[in-house]
Amino acid sequence: MKILIVYYSKTGKTKEIAHTMANELADGNEVKLRKIRMKDERGLLATYLLDTKKALRREKPEIEVLDFDHKEYDLIILGTPVWSANTAPAINTYLEKSDFRNKKVALFVTLRLMGGEKVVGILTEEIEKKGGKVIDFIIIKTGLCHKKKMLQEARRFASKL
Ligand SMILES: Cc1cc2nc3c(=O)[nH]c(=O)nc-3n(C[C@H](O)[C@H](O)[C@H](O)COP(=O)(O)O)c2cc1C
Repeated sequence: MKILIVYYSKTGKTKEIAHTMANELADGNEVKLRKIRMKDERGLLATYLLDTKKALRREKPEIEVLDFDHKEYDLIILGTPVWSANTAPAINTYLEKSDFRNKKVALFVTLRLMGGEKVVGILTEEIEKKGGKVIDFIIIKTGLCHKKKMLQEARRFASKL
């Protein structure tokens, strides 16, 4: 299978999970990993102070050019951290720019505590509006005490896709 793993990550957790899934799937599949990047990426403090509102308003900030085409893949695995019980804003822009027609999509949502189900709902609605099919999802807690478990969960999820 040709698989695209696409994600946004600010502090590295979603990235680590994306890479873990890529390793799990590497045997027998062709896997490409792509990170969505905002043009105006702030430091963490400014993110908490300013971008929290952007997430609440579901804003679509400018992102770097997407150098991949969904058409080339059998499966898209999409990952976002939860920001203010919403998608990370960069993901809103990616969703708007992307064509999901006839694409199977699996979701992974990372968070500290809450908002995961709502974000799965937002992603599913947006993807299905654009002709895609969400086939599975996982919500992964990434706090310090979940370090080992989060990667185990990522491996298990990837292996059953
Ligand atoms: C601006 C901001 C808002 C956040 N809002 C939430 C939230 O509403 N609920 C939650 O459980 N975690 C929240 N978090 C924590 C992140 O979702 C969590 O740490 C995530 O795994 C980080 O992924 P990353 O390391 O790939 O950026 C927030 C983090 C940031 C930076």
